[in-house]
Amino acid sequence: MHGAPGRARRPASSLPPSRVPTDKEPVPTDPTPSPWRLSVAPMMDWTDRHCRHFHRLITRHARLYTEMVTTGALIHGDVPRHLDFNPSEHPVALQLGGSEPADLAHCARLAETWGYDEVNLNCGCPSERVQRGAFGACLMAEPELVADCVKAMRDAVSLPVTVKHRVGIDQVDSYGFVRDFVGTVALHGGCEVFIVHARNAWLKGLSPKENREIPPLQYAWAHQLKRDFPQLTIVINGGINRPDEIAEQLAHVDGVMVGRHAYHEPWAMADWDERFFGAAARTADCDAVEDAMVAYLQRISAAGVPWGHASRHMLGLRNGQPGSRRWRQVWSDSRTKASMPEVAQREARAAMQATASRQNPAPVQLTGAAS
Ligand SMILES: Cc1cc2nc3c(=O)[nH]c(=O)nc-3n(C[C@H](O)[C@H](O)[C@H](O)COP(=O)(O)O)c2cc1C
Repeated sequence: MHGAPGRARRPASSLPPSRVPTDKEPVPTDPTPSPWRLSVAPMMDWTDRHCRHFHRLITRHARLYTEMVTTGALIHGDVPRHLDFNPSEHPVALQLGGSEPADLAHCARLAETWGYDEVNLNCGCPSERVQRGAFGACLMAEPELVADCVKAMRDAVSLPVTVKHRVGIDQVDSYGFVRDFVGTVALHGGCEVFIVHARNAWLKGLSPKENREIPPLQYAWAHQLKRDFPQLTIVINGGINRPDEIAEQLAHVDGVMVGRHAYHEPWAMADWDERFFGAAARTADCDAVEDAMVAYLQRISAAGVPWGHASRHMLGLRNGQPGSRRWRQVWSDSRTKASMPEVAQREARAAMQATASRQNPAPVQLTGAAS
């Protein structure tokens, strides 16, 4: 993966000229699928190791990302608590938050030692806490610093070092801004993979949640990045949910990252391997995934971890099935969590089936009725 592009500094004037994006131009496509073809986004408090284990039961091939872990948390905190993961999670990427090249290099080394497949630098988080630490989305205003960070990490490890960013910050409304950011970080830092959350981050006045909803999506700018930098891997993210939407995006870029939809509707990932990675049709159904998750809950419970920490991530598994609301209620009931996972499973399935048969009663058998 490493090698090109060259690390020699080139003046920004040698970057490709800014053009008005158009969706009409064809995009060069790679005959071998990129390792970044489809991934589940880093999501704080959501994509912990339990969640990633659960997602891996549904998709074998999608790339999984950790929540953002700050360099401070790794340098001063409990490293195993932040970095331990289940071997089943591969390919799995560690997302780092930070802006100090030496600290990031140190944390990238930890990631390599722990066995991660990629280190990703967060340049897209708009939260005030992150801004106070001078990293996340505000780093987009300092592409040379990001290049230095990426270079320090690349020099420290042989893992791919990738960047996740927005298309702009605040009211910047120009494709040239993200184009120069990507160009600088690629040319001066050697970054080859960019994950583009295709909306601006507004650093003042919006909460992180609003910052995922209010700034308009600019897919055309992400597509234009691929045209301007065909040698780079460009992954698009933001509001891309259904398989048809994923397929549509893959005609323009190398990969798609899905966040909230994958979390809330995890069974939507069940067809990903077959459709997007050419894998054999899936044999495990929803029941089998639930069974495997219950076995996992039993294992972590035996190791002293409250199993509710992990079961919360599977509450969307049966969305759309008759009785799924009752199933979810039983799993999230605090009284249920006082029992063993297999007991919770039995009660949840029974409650689901009872509701489903009330909603869809079996036809009444009329025995012995006179005709
Ligand atoms: C609860 C939550 C936490 C998030 N935490 C992170 C994070 O730690 N790092 C990051 O780069 N993005 C984070 N994001 C943003 C997502 O990675 C993604 O860019 C965003 O949700 C848009 O994609 P989507 O429309 O597919 O959800 C978070 C999103 C959510 C919903």
